[in-house]
Amino acid sequence: MPTTTGMKAGGFYDAHSGGQRSALDEFLPWLEEAVADLPLAGGDPAPVGVMDIGSSEGANALYALDRVARRLRFATSRSLWLLFSDLPTNDFNRLFANLYPGGTAAVTSDDVFVGAVGGTAFGRLVPPASLHIATTFNAIGFLDKRPDAGLPNFILPMGPGPLAPREGVSVSEDERAPYRRQAEQDLHNFYAARAAELVPGGKLLVQVFGRDDRHSTSHGIYDVLSDAVLDGVDDGTLDRAVYERLVFPIYFRTVEELVRPIEADDRLAACFRLERHASHDVPIPFNTAFAESGDRSAWAKDYTGFLRAFTEAILAAALPDSPLQADTLESIYQRVEQRLIDDPARYEFHFISVGALLTRR
Ligand SMILES: C[S@@+](CC[C@H](N)C(=O)[O-])C[C@H]1O[C@@H](n2cnc3c(N)ncnc32)[C@H](O)[C@@H]1O
Repeated sequence: MPTTTGMKAGGFYDAHSGGQRSALDEFLPWLEEAVADLPLAGGDPAPVGVMDIGSSEGANALYALDRVARRLRFATSRSLWLLFSDLPTNDFNRLFANLYPGGTAAVTSDDVFVGAVGGTAFGRLVPPASLHIATTFNAIGFLDKRPDAGLPNFILPMGPGPLAPREGVSVSEDERAPYRRQAEQDLHNFYAARAAELVPGGKLLVQVFGRDDRHSTSHGIYDVLSDAVLDGVDDGTLDRAVYERLVFPIYFRTVEELVRPIEADDRLAACFRLERHASHDVPIPFNTAFAESGDRSAWAKDYTGFLRAFTEAILAAALPDSPLQADTLESIYQRVEQRLIDDPARYEFHFISVGALLTRR
């Protein structure tokens, strides 16, 4: 049972995912350059398959695959299949609306066909050896299953950030361990599924939010959300049980963790050659604008929209199912925004984007 029902729908994720676009942009050129190495025999009538995994509403996924398709169009005259996949709970209506804005195709290169696939990143999505390229951006940190282990004193297995200490808020190494093991298992399953789906010589570009030895993408964001929920507990508008139940089953990997299965598991090492890997502290539009303008309110508004897009579905599931749920959500995100305005330094945000390019042997 996947641990998220997806992003905030109806175009909200698309409108608030400039940070994710910046994070994937760091790595997309690697794949564009690698198109020249693909095995693209001219006489083969089979289409060239390209699939993105965890595409959400599609704006960023379409941007990425369209760039890849343009490179492919120069490299081969074969038909192209661009596939967009996500969990079955994703807003696929919005994805198709993005693929056909105003009823006409967004992808305009010749002989390119688009489609959508529902399923989990951690299992098989398409037939064997049917892809030349697979990509995933900002998705595989969401765990496949929530471990049967509570986190009563924080809302994320990674623990609070160093700039936002609060009495009683913590995650111990023992509490984190089941989530780390789930993340390891997920990553192994992800690579094994892609090994089956890619043709020999095919390329896999993996990028996800992560952490390095200075920052974690979780710092600031989950601190302000935790603080906002705890404020509600302190003033009696929320039950302490809501905080104790609330867990974002998301793991933020280092780049070493991202590539470890390829280096450590003989079967995966036999399937993939690791071409490049890196970790970047990526400039994010709302931080760049804040540095230029000093406008706290604008920064807080954009920061809140950004975090709301990927936290609301999980937060809503932890709240009591009542007609007042929408109001409660609204007031939590209002508190988030106010806290950001009041104390930007406590919730400083860095997007650590980790990525790797692999070739199927
Ligand atoms: C933050 S969005 C990223 C969307 C897009 N790739 C981007 O970079 O903007 C994460 C996406 O991963 C999807 N996701 C989470 N767990 C998944 C799983 N097990 N399999 C496939 N997709 C998953 C979510 O539904 C969501 O659409």
